[in-house]
Amino acid sequence: MVCHRCRPAEAQPVLFRNASADEIVFVAEGGGTFESVFGKQPYRSGDYIVIPRTVTYRLVPDDPKREDYLILECAGDVRIPKRYLNPDGQLMMGAPYAERDLHGPVELLTIDKEEPTPILIKDGARLSRYTMAHHPFDVAGWDGLLYPYTFNVDDFEPITGTVHQPPPVHQTFEIPGFVVCTFAPRYLDHHPEAIKVPYAHSNVEADEVLFYVRGNFGSRKGIERYSLTLHPRGIPHGPHPGTILASMKADRTDELAVMFDTERPLFATPQALGMDDPSYPYSWLG
Ligand SMILES: [Fe+2]
Repeated sequence: MVCHRCRPAEAQPVLFRNASADEIVFVAEGGGTFESVFGKQPYRSGDYIVIPRTVTYRLVPDDPKREDYLILECAGDVRIPKRYLNPDGQLMMGAPYAERDLHGPVELLTIDKEEPTPILIKDGARLSRYTMAHHPFDVAGWDGLLYPYTFNVDDFEPITGTVHQPPPVHQTFEIPGFVVCTFAPRYLDHHPEAIKVPYAHSNVEADEVLFYVRGNFGSRKGIERYSLTLHPRGIPHGPHPGTILASMKADRTDELAVMFDTERPLFATPQALGMDDPSYPYSWLG
């Protein structure tokens, strides 16, 4: 998998298609219309836009200067976790979201133009510019079971308990090689002696990345909005000093974060390393 941060300088100038990866575009901030061969879909802040590979699309923002995305390229299919589904494949009652929370294309967008139309095609690290003699959105209709959809984090129904629930309750998507979780605003554990932040742990078989979107993240200090943390496998971590006692007084959290845990180790690009905060590993020293 590959993770990108994107704050576009301008609206997407050409059509795009990812030839080798399904994409999850998490809209941290923004809104507008997602246009593809399947038609138009509105998107807004907090949406995951799930785009199957080879869909030709463009994002048409209402205000390009507001847009801010976390983009996950997925080597395999983006799936709903199996334990949320009954044997007939329906989302079960008690799952943190339902079919009605997944939104497909709403309106056909037919562009019937005979004019050279460039498409930027991404295949791994390779980018190719392909020019069609006509606009590819010259569709009269479509049928099928695979299409882009949106899911908004505010429709994620948190699962809580008397004591701290483990991270899988936050799982949103399942992709070969990694999972995506949503830490949505929620009531905290309600046992009178509950410690309402995660216990100290090592993620033994996963690298763990958190993207802090909004609110106050109760278990961490030194985190700002849009911080990204990477906790590599095997390194113990847990609540920052002082946050355990502070959490006992809190009833709810307004935190919103997106987490992804990968089976294989992640490697940071030189650009990402350029933004590294070398003091973060020492922030537990208090
Ligand atoms: Fe962790």
